[in-house]
Amino acid sequence: MSTSSSTAVERDFKREFLKIFFIVFGVLVICFSIFFVKNQENNKYIIETLALNGSAEEGDALFKINCVGCHGITARGLVGPDLHSITQRLNDKEIIRQVTGGQTPPMPSFEIDPVNMSNLLKYLHSLE
Ligand code: HEC
Repeated sequence: MSTSSSTAVERDFKREFLKIFFIVFGVLVICFSIFFVKNQENNKYIIETLALNGSAEEGDALFKINCVGCHGITARGLVGPDLHSITQRLNDKEIIRQVTGGQTPPMPSFEIDPVNMSNLLKYLHSLE
């Protein structure tokens, strides 16, 4: 009697365990897929941006609208750091991530299309 009831409990336990296991597994698969898709989108954006040859003048105008409040009208720095010779310290991918990533508050993340991002990069390269 006692053995059969304990196997029933065991069976229930196994069933519960399997249920939880599959739920956790499912959630992990979903998270991984989202991460993978986001990563693909990011890479596509970076590849597209780097394939373009932007205009420094357009980038300058864009900078004056979006960035001068923190980096200063001549990009010499205010709240944000001086951006002269930034392209010697960070590569283009790192700069794209800095501008679009929003990972260093208070600098916000910018949603910039590849053409304008390329213009901004060209402008930053033009700063000595
Ligand atoms: C609200 C203020 C703010 C705005 C607007 C802003 N930034 Fe920033 N930015 C910062 C701050 C603060 C940092 C330093 C972040 C850190 O490293 O902690 C920074 C860092 C950077 C860096 C990296 C500098 C380094 O030395 O590593 C780059 C490149 C940059 N910003 C470019 C831009 C561009 C381009 C724009 C406009 C599209 C912009 N930022 C708009 C505040 C701002």
